[in-house]
Amino acid sequence: MRKYFIQTYGCQMNLHESEKLAGMLESLGYEFVSQPEEANLIIYVTCCIRENAEQKVYGHLGALKPYKVANPDVIVAVGGCMTQQSGAAEKLHKTFPFVDIIFGTHNLCEFERLLKEKQGRKKALIEIIEDNRERECIPMRRNSYPNAWVNIIYGCNNFCTYCIVPYVRGRERSRRIEDIVAEVKSLVQEGYKEVTLLGQNVNSYGNDVKGEEGYGDFADLLNAIGKEVKGDYRLRFMSSHPKDLSERLVQAIVANPNVCHSIHLPLQSGSTSVLKQMNRRYTREDYLAKVALIKKYMPDCSISTDVMVGFPGETDADYEDTLSLMKEVDFASAFMFVYSPREGTPAAKREDQIPAEISKSRIMRMVAEQNERTALHSKSYEGKTVEILCEDYDEKKNLYLGRDEYGRMGYFSSQENLIGKFVKIKVGKTVGISLYGEIVEVR
Ligand code: 5AD
Ligand code: SF4
Repeated sequence: MRKYFIQTYGCQMNLHESEKLAGMLESLGYEFVSQPEEANLIIYVTCCIRENAEQKVYGHLGALKPYKVANPDVIVAVGGCMTQQSGAAEKLHKTFPFVDIIFGTHNLCEFERLLKEKQGRKKALIEIIEDNRERECIPMRRNSYPNAWVNIIYGCNNFCTYCIVPYVRGRERSRRIEDIVAEVKSLVQEGYKEVTLLGQNVNSYGNDVKGEEGYGDFADLLNAIGKEVKGDYRLRFMSSHPKDLSERLVQAIVANPNVCHSIHLPLQSGSTSVLKQMNRRYTREDYLAKVALIKKYMPDCSISTDVMVGFPGETDADYEDTLSLMKEVDFASAFMFVYSPREGTPAAKREDQIPAEISKSRIMRMVAEQNERTALHSKSYEGKTVEILCEDYDEKKNLYLGRDEYGRMGYFSSQENLIGKFVKIKVGKTVGISLYGEIVEVR
């Protein structure tokens, strides 16, 4: 029996790519197993956004070695962002010679061929290609019902100076509106209740194919989905680069009732000087103006963000600027990171790296302040009724859970399996980012 195990690291893009790999393997007769020790094909889909993401992969591969030595027929494959970095595949092969297949981000759909090629040979197979080609391998094995991910644009052209993504994901490449609409339509027909449009920067959708037939910008895409795909479902998207968030786009969000009033708008820093050094192409004031634009059209919109501390040269004053901006915007939630130098990026070459102790104390204060804010946002829900899309069951808590339109997590108890249902709950207590409530209505 052919059995496969996939471990995915990193972002939704990677999780979605693993769904494509899983679909391909199942069409070849492989069956999913939840432990690597039960599999005869083990795949790691890797991330390299920060150093600790890479360390995790190295740790897991190290732990796998005795199993592979004892079971030489088991095939171990490593793909994703980490292997796509310049020189990384060779380094991985040297450190872990037992890895059979090393592939990158652009040849995912060719994994079947790689697997066949490997089966006839002893030597490791390393294939990393540079061209950013379509990654629409069909069928997929979607793992996240009632939510489904749909790629709309691959790659990134922005080259923020700290970021490795443009080097491992290549240049922007948009999919055709017609293909995206058809995918969303069939998902909604199949019963998916939430579709998340994915791109490193969804707001630059269409820039690579401007004026070409069959394409448009992100606002056009939202309008096309809104017009063509009717039904009881939520439409989300991520991530949005602030520099490309236009009034037309905000209008398209408002005009299409399926689109959630929830925007993830990565800030990175609240200091105009640091933003310039990061090549973000907006100032502190520009960012605040985008927030005001969103609030003008959607006073209820929840805005979340990504932000980092310890970018090279970041002064105390720069850091305070970030804190004050976070306070002013009053983000619903935030992912907060310590800057991690990535080899090959301009910021990693700088001499003025920030000592770890300083970054640590900066991140701790930031997290404490934001946690308080996030909890206050939750508190404002107490006594209110909110609609949750039930997406999972938490065995430890013995509760069902899901998110409201604004991305807040709600927990509730039910005898019946409600996954995939919209559930109205009356919120009692709140803890951190989570709401706890009683069911009022199910549809
Ligand atoms: N160090 C720390 N955080 C990073 N991010 C991207 N690159 C780095 C890095 N080198 C963060 C950004 C981005 C999120 C996905 O990861 O905040 O928005
Ligand atoms: Fe990285 Fe910037 Fe592209 Fe986001 S927009 S993936 S942070 S280079």
